[in-house]
Amino acid sequence: MEKELSHSFRNMKKKISSYQRQTDLLDKMSQTERYVNNLAGISYIVLPKVYPGGTDSLLLCDCMDINKGDEVLDIGTGTGIVALKAKTLGARNVMAIDLSPRAVSNVKQNAKYLGLKIDIKLTSVFGGIKKKFNVITFNPPYTDRKAEKDYQICFWDKGNTAIKLFFDELEKHLKENGKAYVCWSSFAKKGLIVKLAKGKNFKISRIGKRSGQTGYHFYVYKVNR
Ligand SMILES: C[S@@+](CC[C@H](N)C(=O)[O-])C[C@H]1O[C@@H](n2cnc3c(N)ncnc32)[C@H](O)[C@@H]1O
Repeated sequence: MEKELSHSFRNMKKKISSYQRQTDLLDKMSQTERYVNNLAGISYIVLPKVYPGGTDSLLLCDCMDINKGDEVLDIGTGTGIVALKAKTLGARNVMAIDLSPRAVSNVKQNAKYLGLKIDIKLTSVFGGIKKKFNVITFNPPYTDRKAEKDYQICFWDKGNTAIKLFFDELEKHLKENGKAYVCWSSFAKKGLIVKLAKGKNFKISRIGKRSGQTGYHFYVYKVNR
């Protein structure tokens, strides 16, 4: 009993501090002016109130396998770092989508800044997209919590609706032999990704893990038929 209590207390402490960490980062994002960041060997612009990229974004860039000529879709693109990386790795066409108008404006600026052609759309997960892709990437909001302010959608999503919609629609958008790469975290709902993937008869395996500065872990899952 004592052991159980101390375990759940540890979990509670962890959960509170992950909210705190996210809140602090959101505050910082809203107060920081436009600047240039460097990740995965790419220098790119970060606009205020857009997720600047972190351990998870870098892990996703390192894990994704892009072949020359691939058609790539990056969902929840933020600054566009993953989309830009895919393009530099030889993807033929890269589409980058986000529900945040600030993110869309950010990836547009980065495509221009780096002279890379990216097809950019303001839309939710797979919204209005008819195409199929060789590779689909998604670094989603992890935390089941209501976003009170528009830019908080980068971390918070009540009911984890974005990742659920992703798995509902994935089958329609993967080419034959296509694969998806999805980020998740140790402070997000445990087992959710695997449950959603298996519920739609996908194969899923964890292909990457990295620890962030706060002691939490980030993962990349590969999903395919
Ligand atoms: C954690 S950030 C990832 C940004 C970037 N891909 C990266 O790895 O640095 C999550 C992104 O998903 C976007 N987002 C949240 N809900 C979404 C939805 N339903 N549809 C599309 N994008 C969404 C947010 O605006 C945010 O830019």
